[in-house]
Amino acid sequence: MNNAQIYNMDPNIQIINKDFLKLSVGDIKYPEDRPSKMDVVYMSPPWGGIGYNMVPEYSVKYLHPDFNQVIKKALEFSRNIIMFLPKNTSVEELVQYLIPYAAEFSEDGENRKNELVIEIE
Ligand SMILES: C[S@@+](CC[C@H](N)C(=O)[O-])C[C@H]1O[C@@H](n2cnc3c(N)ncnc32)[C@H](O)[C@@H]1O
Repeated sequence: MNNAQIYNMDPNIQIINKDFLKLSVGDIKYPEDRPSKMDVVYMSPPWGGIGYNMVPEYSVKYLHPDFNQVIKKALEFSRNIIMFLPKNTSVEELVQYLIPYAAEFSEDGENRKNELVIEIE
């Protein structure tokens, strides 16, 4: 919050101290001049302790709260999700976990039907 104040961005920030899994769209107050829609959900979930880099491949099963619960909740707010994960996360497993969510986008118009874009950096 200190940096936000320095850069005069604090009026754009709303702090909600709540279990993310219990967060609802109604908890978020959008500015009157902005559309009531979230561009992106950025998440930095707990990786389950310091041992994440002691395995050749990190599994999203080690995440807490549960990966599927977190993704489902994030999709209530936006179709764009960024998640900060260990660099040794199994990409293959991640894709397998995410594929079922492609269906979440099916109501978004014909052009983007069942589109799921996974970018890994
Ligand atoms: C890896 S830390 C993220 C730290 C953050 N990126 C930062 O720079 O301060 C994970 C955070 O998720 C929070 N957390 C865990 N479960 C949560 C939940 N169900 N709802 C909201 N926050 C949760 C933890 O309290 C912890 O602060």
